[in-house]
Amino acid sequence: MIRQLLAAGAAGLISLPAAVATTANREYDYIVVGSGPGGAPLAANLARAGQSVLLLEAGDDQGSNPTYADMANFNAAGNDPLSRWDFFVRHFADEADNARYEKTTWRRPDGSFYVGLDPPAGSERLGVFYPRAATLGGCAMHNGGICALPADDDWNLIANLTGDNTWAADNMRRYFVKMEQNEYLPVGTPGHGYDGYVHTTISDPSFMEVDSDLQKLASELVDLTGGDVAGDVNALDPDRDQRTGVFGLAIHADSKGKRTGSNTLIRATLDDSAGYPLTVQLESLVTKVLFAKHTRVPTAIGVEYLKGKSMYKADPRYNASSKGEVGRAYAKKEVILSGGAFNSPQILKLSGIGPRKELRKFGIPVIKDLPGVGEQMADNYEAGILSLASKDLNGTAGPVAVLLRTPTARSENRNIHAWCGAFSFEGFYPGFPTDYGPSQYECAIVHMNPRSQAGYVRLTSADPRDVPDINLRFFDGEEGADEDLTELLDAAETFRTAMGNAGPPITPFDEKHPCPGRNSVCSDEDQKEYIRLQAYSHHATSTCAIGPASDRYAVLDSKFRVHGVRNLRVVDASAFPTVPGAFPVCPTFMLGEKAADDILKELRQQA
Ligand SMILES: Cc1cc2nc3c(=O)[nH]c(=O)nc-3n(C[C@H](O)[C@H](O)[C@H](O)COP(=O)(O)OP(=O)(O)OC[C@H]3O[C@@H](n4cnc5c(N)ncnc54)[C@H](O)[C@@H]3O)c2cc1C
Ligand SMILES: *[C@@H]1O[C@H](CO)[C@@H](O)[C@H](O)[C@H]1NC(C)=O
Ligand SMILES: *[C@@H]1O[C@H](CO)[C@@H](O)[C@H](O)[C@H]1NC(C)=O
Ligand SMILES: *[C@@H]1O[C@H](CO)[C@@H](O)[C@H](O)[C@H]1NC(C)=O
Repeated sequence: MIRQLLAAGAAGLISLPAAVATTANREYDYIVVGSGPGGAPLAANLARAGQSVLLLEAGDDQGSNPTYADMANFNAAGNDPLSRWDFFVRHFADEADNARYEKTTWRRPDGSFYVGLDPPAGSERLGVFYPRAATLGGCAMHNGGICALPADDDWNLIANLTGDNTWAADNMRRYFVKMEQNEYLPVGTPGHGYDGYVHTTISDPSFMEVDSDLQKLASELVDLTGGDVAGDVNALDPDRDQRTGVFGLAIHADSKGKRTGSNTLIRATLDDSAGYPLTVQLESLVTKVLFAKHTRVPTAIGVEYLKGKSMYKADPRYNASSKGEVGRAYAKKEVILSGGAFNSPQILKLSGIGPRKELRKFGIPVIKDLPGVGEQMADNYEAGILSLASKDLNGTAGPVAVLLRTPTARSENRNIHAWCGAFSFEGFYPGFPTDYGPSQYECAIVHMNPRSQAGYVRLTSADPRDVPDINLRFFDGEEGADEDLTELLDAAETFRTAMGNAGPPITPFDEKHPCPGRNSVCSDEDQKEYIRLQAYSHHATSTCAIGPASDRYAVLDSKFRVHGVRNLRVVDASAFPTVPGAFPVCPTFMLGEKAADDILKELRQQA
């Protein structure tokens, strides 16, 4: 077996002689498209089991760049043009609502960004900035790193939908144990792993032993909601999903603060002296799946791609005059798409798999009419209570997690996962976040199990370099908008109370939102309207959802296979039929692990 890394021009990577690194037609057992939390474990595990794998990634490798390697730099990573894919999305079907989003991004006539509602004359309205990372490792290279397991019910629901019990929560836990390398609990703690590639840590809880403002604020959160700053949010505990209060905020970084996960796994697999048959080809934008001719059932045999830097128009470095080089690669066994919730449905549609009408509109020959591709997109709603204390806040505490069950939650389970600390986070816009200075304090709120799932990703053309039309359609399901808003408001009010309980000299807080001012009184209606219009999100899922073939909108069967198509799967966050808990990254690693396991089991059964 020979180790191949086709990364011409990528900084920090070993390049092989040109004779090996040819982009001529090549054949592998598997082709995986995209190296995020879905694609990376899948590609690595298949190669580690002896299958030859080509991993195609649109971006390059920034794994040695401290902006990405050090988790503390996540905001800089999210703003860094070396990996950015800038999507500009909409939140509402009604443009009058979209027009009121305070962090709307525009392009000024000189090409620079403007954020706000009063742009200079001649500016072009871009929309809501929704960052994605096109780089080896995907969005796990610029995300905030929060690693939280979904409720057991979120997995059990997939088992129920499909009748496939391998999705049951107790089985899914095995994949978490396999991938995790826990650094905050004693070795042997049940339900945790100690030799995986996703290192997990929490902020140092010892700040609670020193008098400080941040210690005081964390104590007020504990007093009001319960819990403990070192509590394990991912505990194997039959009552875990009902436990509320303060917990340690678990992140996928090691105790030196190094980001771990998809990028480190791929690099370790390439560097392993075992010489696994993994080939990673960077700067390759997959433009479509290729199918065998004259088969009754459409059968994937390979992919076509554009080799070159910044081939996608979402890339701020995109240059229309760089055309790239068209290449093809072939798979003896399967093609697997892991391009993420925006790009996997786009690739499927460009390949002729999607809603017939939409494909026809752009002259794309229909390979398989699947109405659910790009539809029923879901996301966690996010809002925050951001306030300025009456003094600069002292103390050195990292953020803490707070899980709540608000009174009108849909089940007995907790429905809010927030993180509180001396930071500001108001969603995404170029240059995010805004620094309000040393008195800022926020509880950033993530809402689980949104009722609405009306978002979509639709083509704007048949050009694979074009960015699709993406609308989250917030609070726009058939029902439940008011309930979702009530849950977000109730959470904000709980946090406002806890913060207020800190007393002088920390209080009174000057709240930025959702109820601006000192000791202001705001009606529930006004606050809900604020949250409705200013909510944001960055955990999109479900655009190629798993479900039974009898469900018109299901795209994948329970083994990630595209319904009605052979040798083609989708393995990334788009496969979840509903949003998995509050934070999708660790669930997506688990999904990648599961897919590899399922595929290798099938191979053993065939042998
Ligand atoms: C700013 C930000 C912060 C976040 N913070 C958190 C957090 O704290 N905790 C959490 O749980 N989640 C967080 N998330 C979400 C989480 O990172 C994503 O849900 C997760 O990375 C999804 O994994 P994925 O494999 O589905 O897709 P992605 O991570 O998007 O990976 C897809 C990969 O495919 C590549 N690709 C796409 N199209 C093509 C193509 N045509 N050809 C070749 N390659 C292609 C992309 O370059 C990318 O590398 C955050 C997301 C963002 C944007
Ligand atoms: C799954 O189905 C079982 C049996 O019908 C039911 O008891 C359980 O509540 C369902 N779980 C979920 C999460 O839908
Ligand atoms: C922080 O400020 C408080 C007053 O709000 C003070 O009592 C405390 O001693 C200070 N702590 C540190 C560590 O400076
Ligand atoms: C785009 O690429 C062309 C050809 O390589 C080059 O001449 C031009 O300067 C580039 N444009 C920008 C804006 O970088």
